[in-house]
Amino acid sequence: MRSTVFRTKTVEESIRDTEEPEHGLKKTLTAMDLTVFGVGVIIGTGIFVLTGKIARDVAGPSTALAFVAAGVVCGLAALCYAEFASTVPVAGSAYTFSYASLGELPAWIIGWDLILELALGCAVVAVGWSGYVRSLMDTAGIPMPDALSGTHDGDFGFDLLACVLVLVLTGILVAGMKLSSRVTSVVVAIKVTVVLLVIIAGAFFVKAENYTPFVPPAVSTGEVSGVQAPLIQLMTGFTPTSFGVMGIFTAAAVVFFAFIGFDIVATAAEETIHPQKDVPRGILGSLALCTLLYVLVSLVVVGMQHYSKLTVDAPLADAFKAVGAPFFAGLISFGAAIGLTTVSMILLLGQSRVFFAMSRDGLLPRVFSTVHPRFGTPYRSTILLGVVVAVIAGFTSIDALAELVNIGTLFAFVVVAIGVVILRRTRPDLPRAFRTPLVPLVPVLSVLASLWLMLNLPAETWIRFGVWMVLGAVIYFVYGQRHSRLHGRADVIPDELGGDRPPGV
Ligand code: ALA
Repeated sequence: MRSTVFRTKTVEESIRDTEEPEHGLKKTLTAMDLTVFGVGVIIGTGIFVLTGKIARDVAGPSTALAFVAAGVVCGLAALCYAEFASTVPVAGSAYTFSYASLGELPAWIIGWDLILELALGCAVVAVGWSGYVRSLMDTAGIPMPDALSGTHDGDFGFDLLACVLVLVLTGILVAGMKLSSRVTSVVVAIKVTVVLLVIIAGAFFVKAENYTPFVPPAVSTGEVSGVQAPLIQLMTGFTPTSFGVMGIFTAAAVVFFAFIGFDIVATAAEETIHPQKDVPRGILGSLALCTLLYVLVSLVVVGMQHYSKLTVDAPLADAFKAVGAPFFAGLISFGAAIGLTTVSMILLLGQSRVFFAMSRDGLLPRVFSTVHPRFGTPYRSTILLGVVVAVIAGFTSIDALAELVNIGTLFAFVVVAIGVVILRRTRPDLPRAFRTPLVPLVPVLSVLASLWLMLNLPAETWIRFGVWMVLGAVIYFVYGQRHSRLHGRADVIPDELGGDRPPGV
């Protein structure tokens, strides 16, 4: 059993698969395209929506520090992702990396985990987008009926706009990467302009007194108990608190959502013309830019309005209304509504590529990895997943889903960091256009930092995550293990490290 579930697919095999005409993707992307993709998916619901609730309820002005903490965790992970992406430049991101280093079962686990991250992430952002569009429609005097406005406070409503958005984006992705990349560039430009507008225009309304105290004193949150409390607080037996130094980390575990996306740049490695150089540039460049913008936006927003007065649905726009600048508020809502479309689209793109890679390896039915004869895109996996996500977006509300997305992503970070260290030992010979600095220190710090944020998530999020992963393990043992392309291969022999590889490699 051990030698089967830990059989590895060599890096050479992964690259060779991408060269099969029927299963290969078109190579059209550059470092610039990737950075635009990165910024396109990173800046979204996190900064436009979550900032308000987190500043108001958990961290106050120190929300900016929460963004720094989450940015550091992501930076450490990005250094590991960049090495892997430059060594294994094929579709599938952390899934493919794990297959090359840790073995088939860990790869399956991570692929299954990525599907959760990307599918639910896409649904969360689509629902957030729908909220902004409805608010603009309200202003224009054409409100959506409640029954089609999504679920609020337990009252069910179908979220028609979110559902339609996902279906339209699915169509764009089926039609081809280049088209989606062009659409993305325009939208990203609008989104970055809006963010800069918040920072520059907002700076004129900042009042110094709103920054004191910068780290509000910790207060007990008695109503948050049991499985809703962060796991770390349950484990240590402390009464759950908000604000204070612990509040910064609780906030970081949530605003982490705002950074999700840089890892998805790696999923497009196979469609990049010079992946070895350009993928690391795209990943690190987009992450650095977004961290800077987030810290500035959060500082400006809590400076404009006392944190206790920030709103939850549209905090950036509402801060401008509060200081008597409704014109800017309208522009920001409009830009946010446009900007969230690319976030949703790229999450969907990443998800279909992971599914594609798993199907190409036989762990999911192979029928999903045939590319479209004309568009060169994995249309079957894109359509299947697009429809499923559209349904989830239509029927689900945001809250708990965002935390589930975070735990799934952080788990992937842990596996990738471990994978970098293992691949350095098992395949020191591979060309690495980008090398993670200070191995094993940086990967070890990345694992510890990711685990720390995971521990700051609610216990119920851990339970939901566990259920999803157990379901995945069942599917692997019932289907994936038997249908894997490595299954029963005569040229695979186990090695003393527990991985199987063809002789001579
Ligand atoms: N980082 C993305 C967002 O904030 C997922 O919406």
